[in-house]
Amino acid sequence: PKNLHELASKKNLNFGVAIQAGDVLSLETSALLKEHFNLIVPENTMKWKNIRPTKTFWNWSDMDNMVDFAEKNGMVIRGHTFVWHQQNAPYVDSLKTKDEAVAMLTEQITMVMERYKGRVFEYDVANEVLNEDGTLRDTVWLRTIGPEYIDIAFKAARAADPKARLVLNDYSNEYAGTAKGDAFYELCKDMKNRGIPIDGAGLQLHLVAEHTFNREGLLAQIRRFAELGMFVTFTEIDVRIAMPSSPEKEAQQTEIFKGLMEIAATEPNTGHFVVWGYTDAKSWIPGTFPGYGSAHLFDKASQPKPVFEDLKKIL
Ligand code: XIL
Repeated sequence: PKNLHELASKKNLNFGVAIQAGDVLSLETSALLKEHFNLIVPENTMKWKNIRPTKTFWNWSDMDNMVDFAEKNGMVIRGHTFVWHQQNAPYVDSLKTKDEAVAMLTEQITMVMERYKGRVFEYDVANEVLNEDGTLRDTVWLRTIGPEYIDIAFKAARAADPKARLVLNDYSNEYAGTAKGDAFYELCKDMKNRGIPIDGAGLQLHLVAEHTFNREGLLAQIRRFAELGMFVTFTEIDVRIAMPSSPEKEAQQTEIFKGLMEIAATEPNTGHFVVWGYTDAKSWIPGTFPGYGSAHLFDKASQPKPVFEDLKKIL
């Protein structure tokens, strides 16, 4: 094997990427995806405002296309995401009563997961529920339902597709020994202890090249999830650089990508290395983090950066 995903498969690892609906329709992009990856995630397609823009209109076609594309090409597909505080439809943000909110959330999860039953292997059931200090984020779900909205979402997900792997996903949760990393672990542990159906921890890993990569903290986080009987998925990897870039910053970025791959390839409960977009040519980073860029494995011309070969050598 010579492609990264083929090498990864030998180590029981999937190499994945977040994509837009149009990517599977473009000849150029779909060829590139097939060559390099064996897992895809809808970057936006499954988010509430896209898959259900009005209460009664389900826009299935984009997601159907992606699932078909994945299956036709031997790729697996992760779902993303139901509970979130962004990219909801307006009728979600204006929910008022608890009963209404529980019914809406349960229906959303049930409709999507029953449709793709057995075809989408893993879901981010809830996304970014924590603040930096480890308290629950103020969202429409917390305001209308209270903290038990998380349990309700996971139970609905298990009922809708009992074989799907259910994940709680977040950012800045990757290191044991930080306020958010510890709170995230405690939340998952508490859910496990109470018998709530949660299977995995999603570490988004939107990292910064110039920040210290805390390998020990990440290993400690992964290993304590293993002790809980939970797996870890690296769900949204990118390593942004404060512009202008420099050879030093690129070297730091390379070390972080390599460190993540080494850990994913060796920790037994970590089986998915998913990057959040593959190319600097189409990146969410500059819009969300002004002044940052060059966060992905392929450059602005959509050519693989040198780090891509380094990752192969690790596998
Ligand atoms: C981002 C997408 O990449 C953008 O295209 C979109 O405009 C906003 O959302 N954490 C998540 C992802 O869980 O869903 C976000 O995706 C990036 C941060």
